[in-house]
Amino acid sequence: MKTKKIINKVLGKLNKQSLSNPKQYEAPERFDETDVLKAIRQDIIAEYDAINLYEAHLQATNDSELKEILEHIIEEEKEHAAELQAYLNKKDSVQKILLEKEMGIEE
Ligand SMILES: [Fe+2]
Repeated sequence: MKTKKIINKVLGKLNKQSLSNPKQYEAPERFDETDVLKAIRQDIIAEYDAINLYEAHLQATNDSELKEILEHIIEEEKEHAAELQAYLNKKDSVQKILLEKEMGIEE
């Protein structure tokens, strides 16, 4: 296969997975209980990923207005992560017990 063909094939695959592809965010069929746990874990990962992205942008700018906005957003993302983790703990009792043990709040 010629190089140009290979590049176009790879780019085609990337475009299908791209963030600009709205179809990647289509809702799946209804979740069962296992799917819900997997989805929440993915959502938590997304929140932490967002925090890392905003932190990187915060460190990269000297614009004080932008810094203030990013700091505010980072705090909100941390709140989202905490809300999702609290929900996960309600649904996954093993996760809850292990988290509480690690935090030294065992009963
Ligand atoms: Fe968020």
